[in-house]
Amino acid sequence: MKIAILGGTGSIGEGFALRWAEKHEILLCSREIDKAVSSAGKYTEALLNKGFFCCGITGCKNETAINDADVVVLSVPYRGVVTLLKDLRPYFRDQIVISLVVPMKKNKWFEYTPPKQGSAALEIQEILPETVKVVSAYHNVSAKKLAALELSLDYDVVVCGDDDRAKRTVMELTREIKSLRPLDGGGLASSYMIESLTPFLINLALRNGLSNLGVKFV
Ligand SMILES: NC(=O)c1ccc[n+]([C@@H]2O[C@H](COP(=O)([O-])OP(=O)(O)OC[C@H]3O[C@@H](n4cnc5c(N)ncnc54)[C@H](OP(=O)(O)O)[C@@H]3O)[C@@H](O)[C@H]2O)c1
Repeated sequence: MKIAILGGTGSIGEGFALRWAEKHEILLCSREIDKAVSSAGKYTEALLNKGFFCCGITGCKNETAINDADVVVLSVPYRGVVTLLKDLRPYFRDQIVISLVVPMKKNKWFEYTPPKQGSAALEIQEILPETVKVVSAYHNVSAKKLAALELSLDYDVVVCGDDDRAKRTVMELTREIKSLRPLDGGGLASSYMIESLTPFLINLALRNGLSNLGVKFV
């Protein structure tokens, strides 16, 4: 599969590129081509130095990659995602779009700040063409742990979406990451519950001297 990672130069984009490059072609995207090419080179070198196979990580501008991709990962902060997607809308057709976007702000503690649609995922579906299948996942996965290939991530990943085939594809991609267990979280309307867990987990970590918390249902 061809996977485009928008904002792939950032914290959590790196982990997805490293984890999926063994089986998939990665289009590592940025608003700036030089930044994309530099990160793509760095990630490829890291994989090869650790003895991993790499199908190819290519640095691209965000708009160049979307049309060519089967799956587009939105690895961009909420504050930038609406403007970015409005600009990039013409490049989308019927791709699977994975949103891990969490709208939140920090006062004394972190707070979930959903848009009027109820969640980032629903707002994103509203911006993109109807033929695009938005799937919501990975909001509670730590970027640091995802990029540490020696770690097996003992987390559950709740996957929400209205298109069953798209949801199954994302659940399969999740299984490919060592020890992540995908769980079907229902339709996209349920995304707010899992998005809102992220600020809660960060506060829990801060209050209890912990780090990189995730969720596991037992
Ligand atoms: N970090 C985590 O542990 C974690 C965990 C779960 C979910 N998430 C979610 O994943 C998304 C990415 O998080 P992150 O920590 O990786 O973010 P980040 O490192 O701050 O940013 C990721 C990339 O987004 C692009 N970007 C930044 N501001 C932008 C703007 N205003 N408009 C368009 N693009 C912009 C940048 O890429 P270019 O400059 O190269 O374009 C940047 O490298 C967020 O929505 C976050 O809620 C993060």
